Amino acid sequence: MTDYLAQKVHFTHPDIANVFDELSLWSSHFGRLLLENIELMGGISALDIGFGTGFPLFELAQAHGRSCQFTGVDVWKSAMDRAAIKRRVYGLDNVGLVHADGAHLPFADRSFDLIVSNLGINNFDNARAVMAECARVAKLGARLVITTNIKGHMREFYDVYRQVLEGFGKQEYLERLAANEDHRGTKESVCGLLEGTGFKVVKVIERDFAMRYLDGSALLRHFFVRLGFLDAWRAVVTPEDERAVFAQLERRLNALAERQGELKLTIPMLYVEGKCGSKHSMELG
Ligand SMILES: C[S@@+](CC[C@H](N)C(=O)[O-])C[C@H]1O[C@@H](n2cnc3c(N)ncnc32)[C@H](O)[C@@H]1O
Repeated sequence: MTDYLAQKVHFTHPDIANVFDELSLWSSHFGRLLLENIELMGGISALDIGFGTGFPLFELAQAHGRSCQFTGVDVWKSAMDRAAIKRRVYGLDNVGLVHADGAHLPFADRSFDLIVSNLGINNFDNARAVMAECARVAKLGARLVITTNIKGHMREFYDVYRQVLEGFGKQEYLERLAANEDHRGTKESVCGLLEGTGFKVVKVIERDFAMRYLDGSALLRHFFVRLGFLDAWRAVVTPEDERAVFAQLERRLNALAERQGELKLTIPMLYVEGKCGSKHSMELG
């Protein structure tokens, strides 16, 4: 019962510093939405699809404690290797890490009481196939909890980008920009995805937060923006126009920031919880 007393964590051990500063600020907003709203239950078997370097998998496993068994799946091998180090350092023997595609889960039917995915749904090539697999591996009455950014994401940025592209007079650029914005779902489309694969939506929560920058120059050079968004923005235009478009985009974003005192980008977040085969009534937050 007192095993934790023998597991002293030494700040001076190099492994501790290696795993301490891990979570991206981006993921943390969505993870908090999930961690603050999910009901904790004992004795469950849970699955996290697209756990990246271990979030929210490890936090959830620790919040639920050792009566629960957690499994994470992801297709990103190097992130999994990182997560394996953290699992060892954290001493979590109730967490399994599996290299697998959410659209082809290597688990038997009706295996899990809880399935979560923090920021997974926009990244799955075939979100419907992943949801269908969730329905297959969920026990009757199991919960599926999805957190994601939805349409309206960075709308202040997209408005400026649209104005820049209108000046170029190429319809295909505007169409590609619209497709880029639209690939994020809405509350209705995400709920529809769950309902269409056998889950009854029982809880929906919408929140937003702001990403703040001094100006467009800061935004376009932010490492996380370059990692997560810039390639898709670049793909809207052809390489020969790219420099001219982005120079103008940066100038206009800077002018907007100058007028407003800063550049503030809205990020709308959605928490959707479904129950497998349940008949619960819906609760709106
Ligand atoms: C935006 S990251 C989110 C990671 C983590 N959940 C977090 O909150 O930081 C999306 C994750 O989904 C994973 N992913 C993408 N397609 C997948 C698939 N078909 N099956 C499982 N994981 C997938 C990616 O490798 C990546 O780790």
